[in-house]
Amino acid sequence: MAAGIDDIAIYIPRLYIDAADFAKARGLDPEKLQKGLGVSQMAIVDTNQDPACLAANACLQIMQKNKLSPEDIGRLYVSTESSFDESKAMNSYVIGMLEQVYGQGAFEHCGGVETKFACVSGSYALYDNTNWIRAGEAEGKHALVVVSDIAKYDMGSSGEMTQGAGAVVMLLNDEPRLLTFDPKVTATSIKDEYDFYRPFGKETPIVHGQYSNLLYMIQVRKALEIYKKKALASGLMKLEPGETILDHMDYLNMHLPYSNMGKKALAYLVRHEWRQLPRWKKIIHDMGIPEPVPKDPRGTIESVLGDEEFMAKDHEFTKLFTKTREFQEVYESKLASSLIASKMIGNLYTASLYLGFRSCLEFEYQKGIDLNGKRVGFGSYGSGSSAMVFSGTIQPEYEEIVKNMNLEAELAPRRKLTLQEYETLHENKLSPEEPMVHTKREFILVDVNTTTESRGERRYIFNE
Ligand code: CAA
Repeated sequence: MAAGIDDIAIYIPRLYIDAADFAKARGLDPEKLQKGLGVSQMAIVDTNQDPACLAANACLQIMQKNKLSPEDIGRLYVSTESSFDESKAMNSYVIGMLEQVYGQGAFEHCGGVETKFACVSGSYALYDNTNWIRAGEAEGKHALVVVSDIAKYDMGSSGEMTQGAGAVVMLLNDEPRLLTFDPKVTATSIKDEYDFYRPFGKETPIVHGQYSNLLYMIQVRKALEIYKKKALASGLMKLEPGETILDHMDYLNMHLPYSNMGKKALAYLVRHEWRQLPRWKKIIHDMGIPEPVPKDPRGTIESVLGDEEFMAKDHEFTKLFTKTREFQEVYESKLASSLIASKMIGNLYTASLYLGFRSCLEFEYQKGIDLNGKRVGFGSYGSGSSAMVFSGTIQPEYEEIVKNMNLEAELAPRRKLTLQEYETLHENKLSPEEPMVHTKREFILVDVNTTTESRGERRYIFNE
């Protein structure tokens, strides 16, 4: 049975900080953010928003747009790494909010859990729910998978320039109008690592930035190796001499902690895939420098990062490689459109890959390209660490959904924060009753209980 994404909706908070303002306040060159990282604006949550609110707002939007009633939804999964309770699952909060609109008990038989594995858990949730549909367990119902996060780093840390917030919800069913997942090719890699993690009770993560960048690329490459084997074994793809698996993917959507990480990861994967092909000889010849190798090619990530001479040469090689016509062609045709939303919104952790997918659809469609039948490859990464590579095919009915996508219109009501306002929000100095903007027809947080017997209980309302 086919299964995949029927529709997709996003909810982005109404506040943002501008990268140039931020750079100025931190004594950084704005070019480092805008050009180096590909960050122009970062979405920031208001005092009356948490990741559950973001998720519920996205869910309400997709349900209303598709005129779905709660009985149509068999499962609602929330994937997040911004969890605020160690036991109560975020989907229960979301259902509580939705029932304020649809009536108490309306979602009584909608199963689901909150899933966690840094930024990759949404992909596992999608896979599990796709298989629920493929197995025939859905019995005509749909699944909602919501990925929702607030990417918040310590003030003054190197991660602070890669923040953001938002939720993406995907409606899954057995007659998807947008994308059908390719069966029997989903591939994973996993390794116990400490590149980025958030111990209990800590609001912001502990991050080893450069380590996490390299680990992301290594883990995705390892998953791609398995994907390749599965795609060839299952007959999904057949390679002619001189071809790579990437030639059979029309688009590549990567996890985007900042938009340029997508480009970095693409360059890493393409180098790895092309190295054994005749085209590589020509590229190396045209570039005029050999591809560098670390002193210890079989060493650890630490030894590679500690090999300063290699790192410098590799950096120079990558920069040159990304300027080649061959790479530029791949970059422009397969990746660039997926980066547009990330530049305007920032890091969404679990949601960033899917914001990229939505961005890819909207901006490729705007180019006038017929997307029917195009294959989209997904490179998902979660610190800690696990990667997932999978793919899907855009469906003939895609236009029905994509023609109405308008990111700019959805972002238009945003308000730019001053750096002082941002810092006040970052330090949690204001309560939910003191929001920066007043919104209408949205779920908002009104109170977090502080009494001993009910500590942590959250109260939300739908702001009519
Ligand atoms: N003008 C133009 N470009 C500039 C510049 C300037 N003045 N100064 C620096 N740059 C460029 C650099 O050359 C670099 O580009 P390349 O990577 O192409 O070389 C880029 O700007 C960033 O510069 P640095 O690498 O020096 O930046 P940094 O070390 O200060 O911080 C970071 C970068 C490590 C990603 C940091 O922001 C961070 O720790 N972020 C959080 C962790 C993270 O996002 N990790 C990603 C992988 S893990 C993951 O994906 C999970 C997740 O969602 C967090």
